[in-house]
Order: sequence, then structure tokens, then C-alpha cells
Amino acid sequence: MLLSFHSYKGGTGKTTFVGNLGVMLAQQGKKVCLIDTDVNGPGIHSLFDIRYEMTLIDFLQGVCRADEVVYRYEDTNVFIVPSKACEEDISAMFNTPGEAREKLLELVRKIRDKYGIDHFLFDCSPGINKSSLLTMNVVDKATIVSTIDLQDIRGTYLLSSMSGKLGTRATLLFNRIPLEKKDEISEIVSDFSNRLGTELLGLISYDESVAKAWSRKIPMKDDPDCNYCAQLKTIAEKLMK
Ligand SMILES: Nc1ncnc2c1ncn2[C@@H]1O[C@H](COP(=O)(O)OP(=O)(O)OP(=O)(O)O)[C@@H](O)[C@H]1O
Ligand SMILES: [Mg+2]
Repeated sequence: MLLSFHSYKGGTGKTTFVGNLGVMLAQQGKKVCLIDTDVNGPGIHSLFDIRYEMTLIDFLQGVCRADEVVYRYEDTNVFIVPSKACEEDISAMFNTPGEAREKLLELVRKIRDKYGIDHFLFDCSPGINKSSLLTMNVVDKATIVSTIDLQDIRGTYLLSSMSGKLGTRATLLFNRIPLEKKDEISEIVSDFSNRLGTELLGLISYDESVAKAWSRKIPMKDDPDCNYCAQLKTIAEKLMK
């Protein structure tokens, strides 16, 4: 399956979710490839602390082969395609959006053939931008990760409409929810998702231990029984259907 993760505002928890979901799927025996399409502010390589030379950008620019931008995380079945930070967006590297889409799909095909990948998870840049929409246009399902901040919620509405126009199924995930208000907020966001006609995957509460890890730990690897991981597992069951 090809899955992407988007948000309107930055810092909603996409990279953390993608990294932990990838580790969880690998623990369940799947082969997973995480592709960092957040080319303006890539972060997956930091979360997994991998050293790299060639990146997604080199592949897209035709400088190297697909297998040269794939890095296996330790001895797990998590494979990572990092990006280096650049000021352009992906589609600006091509003459047409169609060409950009074809090149991304070529990357997926080649990596799938070589490593037998089951699932691809794309970590996208925040905001409504061409890179994020291009990725949304190649995947089976796009998940919008939002907080309950009004700016985020309004942007989530926009992103959800964009996915409708592209014909990509969208799902919603609310993260960083104050624990003591989770029930109340759950009702509000399920009403919001019903009005939007977009499936709600669930809510994840604000977790002090995740926040204090500052992306230096991967809870699903270091502390798989933690509260954050339990919530992620429930959401993943719906997402992977
Ligand atoms: N449920 C949570 N509770 C507390 N902190 C969280 C939670 N989820 C993520 N975080 C923390 O929030 C910060 C931002 O998370 P992350 O980098 O995953 O967001 P992002 O959406 O990828 O950001 P960007 O849009 O800048 O790429 C990180 O320090 C992360 O550890
Ligand atoms: Mg990120």
C-alpha cells in the first residue's frame, strides 16, 4: 500500500507517526519503505539517525539509481529514502507534474522489485504546496495529521478538499490532544469528520515522554508498551485496512 502523511501547519507529529508506524509494521513482519518527500525540511534521517550520501533529490535529478538512495535501518525491515534539504519543490525539477509523478512511481516500482517492500509511507511537507500535492496524487490513501488548533483545523478542511479533487481517499488523525479533554474533543472531531465526509482514524493524546524525547528516541522500538504506541496501534489497524 502507498500511504502519505500531510498537515496544514508544521509540527503536528507526521514524522514521529511515520517513523513509529514503520517500525511497528516491520515488527509485524512487513517490509516498509519510508520516503521523505518533505524536501524543504526533511527529518526522517534524524529520527533514525542514519548516515547517508545519495538522497531522493539525487534520484529525481537522475544523478543515481533508485537502490542507491535506500538505507536499511539497522538489521530491521525498515528501509529509508532520505531527502536533503533544498529550497525547490519536487515538481520544479520536472517539466510537467506528470513527469514528476512518473519519476516518483518509478522509484516506488524499483524499490519494491529489489527489496520486496509491502508498504511505502511518504512523510510530506506541511502546507499546501506542490510537493505535498504531488505525493497525495501518487498514493492509495492520504492521512492528514492535525491538532485541534483552529489554524490546523481550517487547513485540514482545505487539504481534505484537495484530496477529493485528486481522487485520493483521505483519512484524518488528530494528534497532541490534551489527555483530560480527549472524550470531549473526540466528539467534536468526529462531528467535524462526518461533515467533511472524511474517515476519522482516531486521536492521540499529548504525550510528555514523546515530547521530551525530542525525536531522539523511537518509542515503538525503545518502549513499545507505552501509551503513545498503544494509541498508534489502534489507529494503524484502521489505516491499514
Ligand atoms: N503525541 C505527541 N505528544 C507529544 N509530543 C509529540 C507527539 N507527537 C509528536 N510529538 C513531538 O512533536 C514534535 C514535532 O513532531 P514531528 O517532527 O513528528 O512533527 P512534523 O509534523 O513532522 O513536523 P514538520 O511539519 O515540521 O515536519 C517532536 O518533538 C515530537 O517528538
Ligand atoms: Mg516532519
